[in-house]
Amino acid sequence: MFLWQYLSSLLLIAVHICEAQECDQMKRLNLAHAFIGTSLRIRLVLYTRENVTCGTLVSHTDLSAYPHFNLSRPTTFIIHGYRPTGSIPTWMQDFIELMLVRIDTNVVVVDWNYGATNLNYFKSVENTQGAADNLTAFIETMQKHGASLSSIHMIGISLGAHISGFVGANLNGSIGRITALDPAGPQFTGSPPQDRLDSSDAQFVDVLHTDIDSLGYREPLGHIDFYANGGTDQPGCPKTIFSGSSYFKCDHQRSVLLFLGSVNQTCVIRAFPCSSYTDFLDGKCQSCDQFGAAGCPVFGYDVTRWKDTLLRLRQTKTFFSTNSKSPFCSTSYRVDVMIWNMNNHRGYMTIKLHSNGTEAVATIDHKSSEFMKYTETKLFAQFDKDIQSVEKVSVMFSAGDVFKPKFKLRVLRIRLTHLELKETALCRYDILLEEKTEVTFRPIPCEESNF
Ligand SMILES: *[C@@H]1O[C@H](CO)[C@@H](O)[C@H](O)[C@H]1NC(C)=O
Ligand SMILES: *[C@@H]1O[C@H](CO)[C@@H](O)[C@H](O)[C@H]1NC(C)=O
Ligand SMILES: *[C@@H]1O[C@H](CO)[C@@H](O)[C@H](O)[C@H]1NC(C)=O
Ligand SMILES: *[C@@H]1O[C@H](CO)[C@@H](O)[C@H](O)[C@H]1NC(C)=O
Ligand SMILES: *[C@@H]1O[C@H](CO)[C@@H](O)[C@H](O)[C@H]1NC(C)=O
Ligand SMILES: *[C@@H]1O[C@H](CO)[C@@H](O)[C@H](O)[C@H]1NC(C)=O
Repeated sequence: MFLWQYLSSLLLIAVHICEAQECDQMKRLNLAHAFIGTSLRIRLVLYTRENVTCGTLVSHTDLSAYPHFNLSRPTTFIIHGYRPTGSIPTWMQDFIELMLVRIDTNVVVVDWNYGATNLNYFKSVENTQGAADNLTAFIETMQKHGASLSSIHMIGISLGAHISGFVGANLNGSIGRITALDPAGPQFTGSPPQDRLDSSDAQFVDVLHTDIDSLGYREPLGHIDFYANGGTDQPGCPKTIFSGSSYFKCDHQRSVLLFLGSVNQTCVIRAFPCSSYTDFLDGKCQSCDQFGAAGCPVFGYDVTRWKDTLLRLRQTKTFFSTNSKSPFCSTSYRVDVMIWNMNNHRGYMTIKLHSNGTEAVATIDHKSSEFMKYTETKLFAQFDKDIQSVEKVSVMFSAGDVFKPKFKLRVLRIRLTHLELKETALCRYDILLEEKTEVTFRPIPCEESNF
């Protein structure tokens, strides 16, 4: 009897301890919800450095109950997009943790899974304005408790990007920053600024496009718009429908992975202002003069370093290329080639850089390049790795013409210039490139001569 009482009180204590440590997170829904459809309900889940892995569900009106929701700190909202199956985004916990490693902020996950989960995309779109109005009221409550609008950063993914825009417009554009990760296109493309995200929605709006031909938005929407790999197809993503659901979401989701890489400072991705991806690949957009000593903007979390210039320029469209896997950053070189063959020749080039057993590869094949006698042909080579102290270089030329007999490109000079370290150009003079045969050489310092 006594033993029983003793045990049951122990059990009660245990239950209390469990309750105290219970963590909240975004609500997991399922396909049944998606079939029936869900109506809008907004949950706000708070994470801080004191509580990185354990979320706290926050009241919309009474903030006094959460001592660790310190409004002297900045606040970062993460706003997810359409959830066709009701699942929690796979990147969510990484996102929270990487943000908190990077900056002492309140991370508030805006869980509108009730509202976003629906087999019918258009129903989810209908909920974006309501979600924004609800969030606006919450931010106004934060303001009453001492938060400043300029210390608020909203990061919106897909539909979440437009929700961020609506919230920003409700608050007259005075929140500090909106980062839009592949803002949704369907139902928003072509609509007027008040019906979508635009650059007047926050003091600074930065936008990444990764799937403009399908789920994303094609036109620029912010002060700076980044088009990763042209914004259409991302390397490493499946190109056919036989790959299942990743065929639909891989390009779109890549926006989150690229942004997280920048939060994690995995590597630096320089973005070049350009009017089109073709011009970018042709190497026509390497001038960064308008940004002075800072150089061209770096994609991602740290682009705020360029904020003043970007605001002055009003709208800047930029491009960069990436690798297919993390770390996504590639290393850019300008390659100048001069030949002395009598006739002009078109072809493709593959270049490898070697150093101490590692190898970086760049293939320049988006279109054939034209080589002309005694004229410098400027190529843009993006290597999958950054190689320090290049020991050897391999070059292979291919004319893409299977019928002609083996042809030789007579190279008078090839010069490779690292775009970040311009002072250390690598050269080689007088090499013979037999078609489809790799030629390897040791580069030497370039001579300051003009041919
Ligand atoms: C926001 O949504 C929550 C839950 O869906 C609700 O409790 C709250 O009253 C809403 N606030 C406003 C201002 O609509
Ligand atoms: C962390 O979150 C849990 C659950 O909401 C809460 O009980 C606990 O007090 C929080 N810890 C801190 C240090 O705020
Ligand atoms: C709230 O954050 C500010 C700024 O980081 C800090 O100075 C202050 O001590 C914090 N207050 C509490 C109660 O933790
Ligand atoms: C935004 O502007 C409207 C109309 O001028 C005003 O009523 C409202 O209080 C302003 N809100 C903020 C957050 O400045
Ligand atoms: C963050 O960077 C570290 C290396 O600096 C890497 O090991 C880790 O996988 C990265 N995390 C994510 C989520 O990218
Ligand atoms: C070259 O690589 C080897 C092993 O991979 C390493 O031990 C050595 O320190 C490297 N040398 C240089 C100069 O990086």
